[in-house]
Amino acid sequence: MRRMVAETRVAPAQLMLPAFVAEGIDGPREITTLPGQYQHTTESIKKLAEQCVETGIGGIDLFGVPTRKDEIGSEAWNPEGILNKGIEAVRDAVGDDLVICADTCLDEFTDHGHCGALRPDGTVDNDATLPLYAEMAVSQARAGAHMVSPSGMMDGQIAVIRDALDAEGFTDVSILAYSAKYASAFFGPFRGAVNSSLKGDRKAYQQDPANRREGLRETLLDLAEGADLVMVKPASHYLDVLSDVAEISQVPVAAYQVSGEYAMLEAAAANGWIDRQRCIVESLTSIARAGADVILSYWAVEAAGWLR
Ligand code: PBG
Repeated sequence: MRRMVAETRVAPAQLMLPAFVAEGIDGPREITTLPGQYQHTTESIKKLAEQCVETGIGGIDLFGVPTRKDEIGSEAWNPEGILNKGIEAVRDAVGDDLVICADTCLDEFTDHGHCGALRPDGTVDNDATLPLYAEMAVSQARAGAHMVSPSGMMDGQIAVIRDALDAEGFTDVSILAYSAKYASAFFGPFRGAVNSSLKGDRKAYQQDPANRREGLRETLLDLAEGADLVMVKPASHYLDVLSDVAEISQVPVAAYQVSGEYAMLEAAAANGWIDRQRCIVESLTSIARAGADVILSYWAVEAAGWLR
């Protein structure tokens, strides 16, 4: 009877897998800070994408790990750059059977690790970063991305990316906007996954975990600029923000169950302290219950098997 009357159901189709494609490795390499997750080559990422299709999940979100980094992150829009090569490989492998989304942010590509270009004094220059995001998004659309996902939290990023995509004829490429993204310590393990060179923090552009209303305000701005989906990140500790956003959004709402949420639960499970599978399903169910239509999760592929 519980099964019959359950108010929330999580379906594989609403899950999206964040995945890493790295330059300079000759086979998949397990990420120390995210046990069970790998940096992939352009070959092994194809197999992973095919697995995503087989399990029936909705999409894959690709992050690039380049060997060459510079001050403005120019490998990010290089058609031969690792992320664009990864997008191309995945599109080649699975075509339109999976939503192929690309992370549109510079932090993996800059030598200082910030999400944007810097002023001479070392602070992030919001407006100088916008055209770089636009160029990156267009290069990702050219490589075959169905969706781009600006995650750098620069003000105005959705509008400039929409304009640039439209101007190049990519009117059908959609934008998954990281709208309410908090300056969270739960991103810690991700920095290991992308060999981040960041010193310091992102408090000048990511939100204060203390602020709930601000999440709504950032979302409304992204909606006005043309976001096709809006996202709250992290997920589990921000279910109030997620619920607020789901209440007002007229576009689908996504939530990102981030690296720290994954690592924490994996560590507890590895110690035998919690029931791993039940906790994973419960966490996904809670995120959906709070209002997420789409969930980005490192467990997407594995959980799909349990949810089917
Ligand atoms: C930055 C980006 C980050 C994550 C996704 N995109 C790191 C950050 O903002 O510091 C984190 C994802 C995770 O923790 O799983 N472009």
